[in-house]
Amino acid sequence: MPIYDRIVVLTGAGLSAESGVSTFRDPAGIWAKYDWREVATPEGFERNPDAVHDFYNMRRRLHTSITPNAAHFALARLEAEHGGVVIVTQNVDALHEAAGTKSLIHMHGEALKAFCSYCASRHAWHIDLATSTPCPSCAKTGGMRPDVVWFGETPYDLGRISDLLLTCDLFVSIGTSGHVYPAAGFVTEAKASGARTIELNLEPSQGASLFDEAIYGPATDVVPRFVERMLGANG
Ligand code: OAD
Repeated sequence: MPIYDRIVVLTGAGLSAESGVSTFRDPAGIWAKYDWREVATPEGFERNPDAVHDFYNMRRRLHTSITPNAAHFALARLEAEHGGVVIVTQNVDALHEAAGTKSLIHMHGEALKAFCSYCASRHAWHIDLATSTPCPSCAKTGGMRPDVVWFGETPYDLGRISDLLLTCDLFVSIGTSGHVYPAAGFVTEAKASGARTIELNLEPSQGASLFDEAIYGPATDVVPRFVERMLGANG
């Protein structure tokens, strides 16, 4: 494998599946149990804030029992030993950082953070949120929400991500079904910039034909092997 200077790795729910975090669109996934309109839109939050808090409280509490898997650790190793790697994750869990990844963009926000809609302050958050939770900065109640991006909202750091896609020479997509934009369009942007594009997933994603290469299998198997191959090329 050639040596790449600037690598962008996009990750999705499939990366954390073997850590015990459900994916969204698999048959037993989160959207088979919950209506995304009710728990992952600003309108759903306005209609029933308690139901949305319950959903994200559950996802936040998961962090007391989940740990990074071999794929998260392999990506942290790639960053440490290869360099030039930025991970852009759609996952709101904190498993990349727990594995040691430093260069990380949480484009859909973070389950372990809360945001106050009144004063726009952001806070590390490890306990349950409720409509009665006061903001630690402005003390108002009723404005606290999980610091995650809902359908209909703009993902975080899109300008920075766009710059990274314009200048990367390798784009790797891992564990994402390719259903949700703008992330699903990153492969096209990277390709237009001349980057090689590789998909690692359990099965072909929606955009599988857009990739130069595809490797299929569970993330804990294919990602460490892929990282070995990258580091071998560099050694
Ligand atoms: P999806 O649930 O749509 O897709 C997960 C992908 O991971 C599927 O293609 C699976 O085949 C694959 N997969 C499952 N287990 C795997 C494993 N062990 N190893 C490798 N791959 C595996 O999740 P995302 O594409 O991440 O957004 O979903 C994108 C966004 O849609 C999420 O961030 C979330 C969701 O609705 C919001 O909530 C705004």
